[in-house]
Amino acid sequence: MKFQSPPGMRDFYPADQRLQNWLFDHWRAASLAFGCEEYEGPIFEFLDLYTVKSGAEILTQLFHVRHGMSEDAKFAIRPEMTPTLARMIAARANALPRPIKWFTIPRMCRAERQQRGRLREFFQWNVDILGVDDPLADAEVIAVAAEFFRRVGVSAEDVVIRYSHRALAAAVMRSFGLSAEQVEPAFTLIDRLDKLSSADFAKAWSEKFGESSSPDALVEFLKNATLEQAIDRAEAAGGLDGAKGGEAMAMSAASSPAPKADAPAPLTMRESLMRFRQHLVDLGVADYCAFDFRVIRGLAYYTGTIFEAYPRKIASRALLGGGRYDNLTELVGGPRVPGVGFGSGDAPILDFLRDLGKLPETAAAIDVFVIDADERFFTAAMRVASDLRRAGVNAEFSYKRQNLGKQLKQATSRNARKAIIVGEEFEKQGAVVVKHLSDGSQTVVEWEKLRSNANYLR
Ligand code: HAM
Repeated sequence: MKFQSPPGMRDFYPADQRLQNWLFDHWRAASLAFGCEEYEGPIFEFLDLYTVKSGAEILTQLFHVRHGMSEDAKFAIRPEMTPTLARMIAARANALPRPIKWFTIPRMCRAERQQRGRLREFFQWNVDILGVDDPLADAEVIAVAAEFFRRVGVSAEDVVIRYSHRALAAAVMRSFGLSAEQVEPAFTLIDRLDKLSSADFAKAWSEKFGESSSPDALVEFLKNATLEQAIDRAEAAGGLDGAKGGEAMAMSAASSPAPKADAPAPLTMRESLMRFRQHLVDLGVADYCAFDFRVIRGLAYYTGTIFEAYPRKIASRALLGGGRYDNLTELVGGPRVPGVGFGSGDAPILDFLRDLGKLPETAAAIDVFVIDADERFFTAAMRVASDLRRAGVNAEFSYKRQNLGKQLKQATSRNARKAIIVGEEFEKQGAVVVKHLSDGSQTVVEWEKLRSNANYLR
């Protein structure tokens, strides 16, 4: 019987894994550059953690876990990290110094239809900043994403991080005559705006909101409005009165603690959004970002800023997505800890970088290939290799006893930087030949000296 990997899941042969490692190194380095700390969680969670607030779409994509002889699947493989993060933060909310800046690169599963950039098992880089209401956190989290793009050679001409705001979008929708209850279903539909033809969209709209309701004016506004126009419209309709910047109004279930007497007045939505936009400028990432009302985000827990990255010139699913979620820790039974963050999948990012020609050539390499000039010296060669390994140098040797030329060939095919030849000189003077495989030059070196300066070989 012949087996294949399950649909939508991948095997990582060494060449694939090298590329994964390259990507993960850049994700990690961009996160660390902003002072984020790495964390991890379990591969599956209680199912209920996702039913609390992940959103309808993700629930249909869960892989349920039934273990041993149990009848019910009480658990699900993580389809995203944010509920786990909220659970972990909620459990230690009071002990964690603010701001909480965390990142992770977990493997996760979603039972979705396999397509370009969307697999059933994938890795997702997550960066989140929690414990602060300040729009600075929203801007900084976006700056981490932009920094990653910059580091892998993707300029603002190739990628755009489109942002919007859930509460602002809700207020604008209300200003077009939708009721508070209609806003959430309208979000779900507008999220599919680019995926449906305009006829199908209009049909779906009238099915949801009645024959007489037309989305045309709203869609026109969503497509063209600037941030200022959106705020003006929402304010004129009275939709933003008293709204705090960091929180959604229509969607907010938060009961914020009473402000301290000397606490500064909370920002209005206008102030918050203007500051957010200015912070993007000051953090040097404004060219990567654009306000775009069509960003809706499918997940139900977002309350404020929302954003997604897309290639500018190539049609693609989102490269990353995220936003502000100020109620999630409460929904999982903890105190209020506002948060903002994003997730980015390895599959869409690697496809995108491949399209742009930005993937590096990665080849397996070894520091040193140890060669016995003659079979008699093989034991000594093994000892040399062992000493090198102990000194932190990656070293290999041939498993076959064969002539020097063949071993050198093997060294080259293994991409070794240097070869160390153990032969007569070793026996007579305790010396080895170091051959630089890049240019073929070679020197005779006292082995003990070389061993104590092994760093030179790395
Ligand atoms: P999401 O929009 O479901 O958000 O996913 C975020 C990103 O993960 C997507 O833009 C895409 O890059 C990647 N992704 C999603 N599904 C797949 C898939 N099937 N295969 C490959 N990549 C995929 C979330 O997951 C939120 N929890 C993100 C977040 C973190 N929000 C706040 N903090």
